[in-house]
Amino acid sequence: MLIRPRRLRDNPVIRNLVHETHLSLEHLIQPYFLTKDPRGQEPIQGFTGVFRWGMEALKKQINKDLENGLKSFLLFGASDEGLLPEAISSLKKNFGDGLLLFSDICLCPYTDHGHCGVVNEGRVDNDLSLEPLAKMALAHAQAGVDFVAPSDMMDGRIAAIRKQLDEKGFSQTGILAYSAKYASSYYGPFREALGSSPKATDFPRLKDRSTYQMDFRNTQEALRELKLDLDEGADLVMVKPALAYLDIIKSFRAESTVPVVAYSVSAEFEMVKALVAKGMADEKSMVLENLTAIRRAGAQMVITYFATELAEKGWL
Ligand code: PBG
Ligand code: ZN
Repeated sequence: MLIRPRRLRDNPVIRNLVHETHLSLEHLIQPYFLTKDPRGQEPIQGFTGVFRWGMEALKKQINKDLENGLKSFLLFGASDEGLLPEAISSLKKNFGDGLLLFSDICLCPYTDHGHCGVVNEGRVDNDLSLEPLAKMALAHAQAGVDFVAPSDMMDGRIAAIRKQLDEKGFSQTGILAYSAKYASSYYGPFREALGSSPKATDFPRLKDRSTYQMDFRNTQEALRELKLDLDEGADLVMVKPALAYLDIIKSFRAESTVPVVAYSVSAEFEMVKALVAKGMADEKSMVLENLTAIRRAGAQMVITYFATELAEKGWL
């Protein structure tokens, strides 16, 4: 036989010499959820080992993360809109540029209907939503966030936010755009964490998020969203979820002029936890395989609920 691919797989040294995809803590972003009680650390139903954190508890946790080499975090508020800016300024006061903060910009955690924009006459009204979103982004920028991350999927929100930030002197604050965010069944544990599911209603357009999040049958539409967000000034663009959308990540990598972020969402995390709990998978191997696959598809960075655990256990 002239050609034997197995020669390059014979032992760990040669395998490590030839491996193509690199994964390290530098590429990972850990999401954290907030709660009011400063010392709180509340478990979340159906979201294994994930908590809502009070400010004091979160500071301690992030201090550990930093010691373990994890430096980037995505913060989500809860019912009270003031919590998130408070957390941003307190963390930045404590840790300065030792950590990088992204903050979620969306209306769904703070509205009783649970939609990501302003509801008007049975619809999520695009243009009415832009101002509150831009104002929220400004409040986070004033608190010192590094990147705002609008997850609402309204048309024109990147331009609206960019304009607001620049007008108020925050030209240095970046925008991570959720460019291709699909209407997905993989968000369950997250919605439990935030209590942000769309609430029951008689209006057909309000029963789920499909009038603003993307249809999972589409690729062209994702590329259209990508181009818009780039033209409107996004610094980073995201594909979400990740594992079922590796083809979209790959297309983004080919077409985008800025780095691509993948969000490996709550049910992707919980599926692994569930298999592990049944004794049917080795957690470390499965997590590393999944995250490496997401990087191999073309994601420069990955938002994952496993980041803290990877850092703590020294898996990378
Ligand atoms: C909503 C939002 C969602 C996630 C982040 N922001 C989902 C949704 O309810 O549409 C999902 C994240 C996850 O599942 O981990 N703005
Ligand atoms: Zn939302």
